[in-house]
Amino acid sequence: MNEEIEKVDAAVAHVDSHQDALDTLDGSRTHVGQSCFGAEVFDHDRPDLGESALETLSHRHDEALVSWRVHESTIDQCLRVQGGGESGRIAGLQRLRNVRPELLDRALADAGRPISALLFTSPNNPLGWVYEAREIDEIIDWADRQGIHVIFDEVYALSVYGERTFVSAASRIGSLGRNVHVVWAFSKDFGASGLRAGVLLSENEAVLEAIDGLAYWSAVSGHTQYLLGEMVADEAWIDAYRIELRTRLAMAADRVTAALEHAHIPHVPAGAGIFVLCDLRPFMIDATWEEEDLLWRRILNEANVNLTPGSACHVGEPGWMRLCFAAVPTETAVAGIRRVGDVLRSG
Ligand SMILES: Cc1ncc(COP(=O)(O)O)c(C=O)c1O
Repeated sequence: MNEEIEKVDAAVAHVDSHQDALDTLDGSRTHVGQSCFGAEVFDHDRPDLGESALETLSHRHDEALVSWRVHESTIDQCLRVQGGGESGRIAGLQRLRNVRPELLDRALADAGRPISALLFTSPNNPLGWVYEAREIDEIIDWADRQGIHVIFDEVYALSVYGERTFVSAASRIGSLGRNVHVVWAFSKDFGASGLRAGVLLSENEAVLEAIDGLAYWSAVSGHTQYLLGEMVADEAWIDAYRIELRTRLAMAADRVTAALEHAHIPHVPAGAGIFVLCDLRPFMIDATWEEEDLLWRRILNEANVNLTPGSACHVGEPGWMRLCFAAVPTETAVAGIRRVGDVLRSG
């Protein structure tokens, strides 16, 4: 431990004085890029901070984001900040298998309020799906046609272990233009959510200006930015890390999938992320949110396993629960699945 601390101290001692100072208050432009786009921006305890950045995208308080089936707790906070509204939603898990602009058109029509941005999580949370280049292109074209912003949340970009290769929206267009924005953070791919450090890619000067203003008051520390910048600049290390991450996630996902099958728990095949979405509808008598909540509590109390209920991920129908498997040793996840299976079978 002391050795680790000494290493960090030694690295910090090399932080250039200018990097340690004012210019990092609104995010380093070099390696880490524009930091501080995560919870800080969407922090509902700090509505004063949340409004200006979101308003830059939304213009008015009665406008909203329409989200493409994301894990929305953060987004809910941002919408509460924004004026208490609900996001427009694209309902129906099955329909998400095929991303079609017609679905988005319908979501816009059903939203009942002006929509100014689409938040598209790619790879998807909670489904763990990786979108193809064609699908990303369709989204970009659709947003362009509608004249709305699209924010690609690529926070699971490196956590891809299935057959499909991750395609970043940024790689599909020469210039992001005014309306396309990409966010990424160290939180998932590097298991470092506590650092609250992320990246915003945007060419929209008004958005960048608003984020600069916010970041000034809740900046990632200069030391953190510097160390993360050094880390990602080490390409050999990053390449090795990516291979190791993919290999370990694939191994864990294989074992978790086998355990779910053994416990007769239906689930949606995933190829990215740190979770798998389980279909617990067969274990409910009435397909209601109340019953989903009761089942979630029963699993928590009896199996001591905390799944994420579908309601918290805004899955369109009751009975789906997300199982996060990569934050614990795989044996622990497998033991948890066995216990969940026992609870489900005990009726
Ligand atoms: C799709 C997605 N985006 C963003 C976040 C927030 O990440 P951070 O820890 O960087 O705030 C999460 C966290 O669960 C997420 O799943």
